[in-house]
Parts: sequence; C-alpha cells; structure tokens
Amino acid sequence: MLLILLTLLFVTTATSFGIPKVTRVVSHQRSPLVSPLYMAGIDGGGLNIVEDEVSILDAATMGPKPVAVRNSGSTVLVCGLLKTKERTDQTTFDFLKENPSFAFSKIVAFCNDAAFAKKRLTSRSARYSGLLDILSFQEAAKPDCMPSKDDLVGVNSVIAYGVEASEVKDLAKSASEAKVGNVVVVMEKPENAKKVKDAVSALSKAGGVSFTVITMPTIVDGAEGSTPYRVGEATDVESFADCTIPRDEALRLITECLGLESAVGKAVSFRGVSTENKSYEYLKSLRSKGYTRSQEVENMIMGGVEKYESAVVEKEQKEEEVAKVQEVKKVEISKSREQEIKDLMAKAKAESAEFERKQIETDAREILAREWREQYFSRNTSLKEDDYIEENMERGMQDALRMIKMMRGESTSDMDDDDELRDWEKEQIAEAEEAEKKLAAAAASSSDSNTDEKSE
Ligand SMILES: *[C@@H]1O[C@H](CO)[C@@H](O)[C@H](O)[C@H]1NC(C)=O
Ligand SMILES: *[C@@H]1O[C@H](CO)[C@@H](O)[C@H](O)[C@H]1NC(C)=O
Repeated sequence: MLLILLTLLFVTTATSFGIPKVTRVVSHQRSPLVSPLYMAGIDGGGLNIVEDEVSILDAATMGPKPVAVRNSGSTVLVCGLLKTKERTDQTTFDFLKENPSFAFSKIVAFCNDAAFAKKRLTSRSARYSGLLDILSFQEAAKPDCMPSKDDLVGVNSVIAYGVEASEVKDLAKSASEAKVGNVVVVMEKPENAKKVKDAVSALSKAGGVSFTVITMPTIVDGAEGSTPYRVGEATDVESFADCTIPRDEALRLITECLGLESAVGKAVSFRGVSTENKSYEYLKSLRSKGYTRSQEVENMIMGGVEKYESAVVEKEQKEEEVAKVQEVKKVEISKSREQEIKDLMAKAKAESAEFERKQIETDAREILAREWREQYFSRNTSLKEDDYIEENMERGMQDALRMIKMMRGESTSDMDDDDELRDWEKEQIAEAEEAEKKLAAAAASSSDSNTDEKSE
C-alpha cells in the first residue's frame, strides 16, 4: 500500500516538473520595452536579424510606437505652390486633408492668382473627397511674396514651399505676431549652409513658433514611396549636388513633419538614395512591420537607419571576431596535434635508441667475454672477466654496433675512422669470403670425386 502511494507521488511530481519545462520552451517571452531598433528587425542587441515570420508576429502583437502628434490646429496655410500649369499641386492639399495627424477644418491656399489656383484644384477627386469644402484661396499682396501678419490671422499652421533665406525673417516675424503655432519652411537647393543657418536662427528667435526647417535637393517628378530616402542635417547642402527627390515623396515628408512633435525645432534634409543604400532595406523592414508613414518619418528623423547601420556593422564585427577566434583555435589545435605527434615520435625514437643501446651492450659483453676466454686460456691476460669487459667496453660496443649494422645491411662508413676497426672489418669480410671459397671448393671437389667415382 505504501509502495503504491510512493509511486503515485513520484509520478505526480515528475509530471508537474515536466509541464513548466514544456511551457517555457513554447512561450517566446520578450521584454515589453521594445526599442525602435528592435522593431526595425534587429533582435536583442543587434545580434540576430529577425526572420520574417517573427517580424510579422511582433508587429501584430506589439506594433510600432504611436507618434506624438504636433498641435497643428484647425487652420493651415500653404504658400509657394500653384504657380505653374505643368501640375495641379493638389497632392499637398490631399495629404493635409487625409492625414490622421491633422484635424483641419480650413486649408488656405496662399497664391499669386486665385482664379488660376482654383482651376488647378477643382478636380473631380477634390470635389468628391471633400477637399473643396474646406479649401479657401488667399491672394498675395505682391507676386511671390510671403504672407503678411494680416494674411496669417486665424491661421494655426503654415507650410511655406520654396522659401528663400531672405524671406524667412519676415515670415517668422509675421507668424509670431499673428500667433501661428507651427511653421514648416522648405528650402529647395539652398546656395550654402549659412543661408540655412540664418533661416533657423530667424525662426528660433520668433516667439511662440514651433518650427521645422527642411532642405531638399532638386525635386523631380515621381510618386510617393518610389525611392528610398535619408534624413540628414539641413545644412549639409553640398551633398545635394548629385541627388534628387521625387516630388510626391517630398510633399509627403514635408506634410508628416508638420504633424510630428518630434520634428519641432529640427532642421533636416531629405534626399533620395539608391536601393544600394542601407536605407532601402531598413525602410522596407519598417513598412513590412506595418509602420504608418508618420511612424516611419519619426523613426527616420530620430536616426533609426543610422542605428540600424551601426547594429549591422556591430553584428558583422562580432561574427568576424567569432570567426577569428575559431580560426585561432583551429590553428592552436592543429599545432598542439603536431606537437603531440612530434613528442610521440621523439619518445619512440628515444625508446628505440635506448633499446638499441642495450642490445649493443649485451652483444658487446658477449663478444668481450669470448675474447677474454681466448686470451685468458692462452695466458695473454691476467685480468678477471668483468674487469676485462669494463676495460674494453668502448671498443666492444663499436664492434657490436658494426656487426649489427652489417647484419642489417646498413653502411658502416659513417662510423668513426678508426683504422684498426676498418682493418678488423676487412679481415672479417676477407675471412668470410675465404670460408665461402673453401666451402665452394670443397663442394666442387666432392662433386668431382663423385663424378670420378661414377666414371670408374
Ligand atoms: C547612404 O546614403 C547616405 C546619405 O546620403 C550616404 O552618406 C551613404 O554613404 C550611403 N550609403 C551607401 C552604401 O550608399
Ligand atoms: C697471445 O699472445 C701472443 C704473443 O703476443 C700472440 O701471438 C697470440 O696470438 C695471443 N693469443 C691470443 C688468443 O690472443
């Protein structure tokens, strides 16, 4: 009975240990504090680029961080557009109307010629989207001039396209006086960094205005999202020389900046880059995770792609380091193997040398003992056997070594040039030859006698 109870207890314990273990394997716990870097597809410290399946899962469970929306108010004024017949310029107005960051009930198109501007913006889509309902037109006092303080009364936000550095000061003053909360100034291909700095300085001095200065390279025709882009310093104007940005993408980026709290007080540049640029894969990764354009632009302004690049470099460096360490280990292992073999061979050699030395010594003793007996009985020595052997050991060993070598068929010429030993060797050979001859002769004569016997 007790045994059964004990067995039962054991099974229960085993099962309850088992379950948490299985659960731990299945659950994929992550820190709830997810850095934007992680969201960009780089896992824990940038060591693993997350697989697609995991990225989708992560986006579904956590999603990108919501952006802090700038207080852009109910009325926005747009100036610097609607000057050419080549395009409608409706895109900007659509963006301002559609973007969930905004709640504009009035969009003012500040233009040179209201009749001309209206023609540009009375498309069917503008009518159906309701854009026309909130759109109003305001003519400039003089062609191409900036809106005055009076023009800006009741306006909460301003986007000024194609602004010259010289115009920013007046605009900043008018905006401040008219209590415009937000101003986004766009400078296309500014001549030099100083002009940008002056614009930034004028806007920072204007009280109560949250501003963003954006510089752009040459704007070319092109759709939104068609080209990867990078965010840089607004003053980095020299590098604009060989880059461009598609128009609709530029308009989108500018519009997003008006909606982002994180763009306040910043002076940035946007430029199109090639698909070779790391920005391409980074933007693709953001978009595949369901980033809205607002979230994406904020991430880019906050240096997301630069962090991504350094994480990639770090990852590559770590991999390189690991590879190096492994290479060093491999070399060490092969070296230690080599050494091991060398040691073994040296040991075997030493052992066989020791074995050979003993063999020679034994043979030498035999040779010397025989020699001693001959001398002793012919009374040529008065030494005792052991003493005779000790006294003649060196020569005895030479003789023994020579014999061994001869028996092995090895050369004995490397042995010391002891003439006596040479002679002894010759004698031995001569004696051996003599004996052979005698044997042959004996054999011949015996066969001769045999033939004789037969012939008889
Ligand atoms: C990516 O674009 C940035 C900014 O224009 C540039 O500094 C960088 O060298 C580019 N990288 C590559 C690999 O093209
Ligand atoms: C002993 O000595 C004599 C004279 O020196 C020599 O002729 C003889 O060969 C020697 N005998 C042996 C066995 O060495």
